[in-house]
Amino acid sequence: MAVRRIINMGHPNLRQVAKPVPEAMLASEEITRLIADMQDTLRDYGGIGLAAPQIDVPLRLAIVEIPGGPTRYGQLAPMPLTTFINPSIEVLDDRCAGFWEGCLSVPGLRGFVTRPQHVRVRYTDIEGQSVSLEQKGFPATVFQHEFDHLDGRLFIDRMDDMSQLMFEAEFDKYGPIGD
Ligand code: NI
Repeated sequence: MAVRRIINMGHPNLRQVAKPVPEAMLASEEITRLIADMQDTLRDYGGIGLAAPQIDVPLRLAIVEIPGGPTRYGQLAPMPLTTFINPSIEVLDDRCAGFWEGCLSVPGLRGFVTRPQHVRVRYTDIEGQSVSLEQKGFPATVFQHEFDHLDGRLFIDRMDDMSQLMFEAEFDKYGPIGD
């Protein structure tokens, strides 16, 4: 296991569409090591989600781990570490809510992004099983943020008002506005 380097906005590989994880790779030592490295990297950098393209691996694979309790996103229900292989997302209700998003590939910045708050995710888990998961609220935003990385998109692409993009120090001092 190892902490991998996260590539930052401006690196062209963050803007590529990632390839599906091939079936032959499921349950391989290679993917087991990759997922373990992603977990180490997520915890070392201190985030709630990480997509494989962020460590310069062009595969449709992401992990999410939401700590419970009070966070800068409000009071959250915890979500244990979950690995999403080849995820697809379906919006079940297009009513949106906004959060101040951050991204390990866009260090030091926060931006207000509105997204649909009720989604269904279909994915393959680490056992190779097909899973369908319905989520409302903040986790729905997290999934959309992470899976956007698999299509070469960053949260700033989803912003409606660029005046709501802030450095963290200014966010702490002057934000949030429009929340
Ligand atoms: Ni991100």
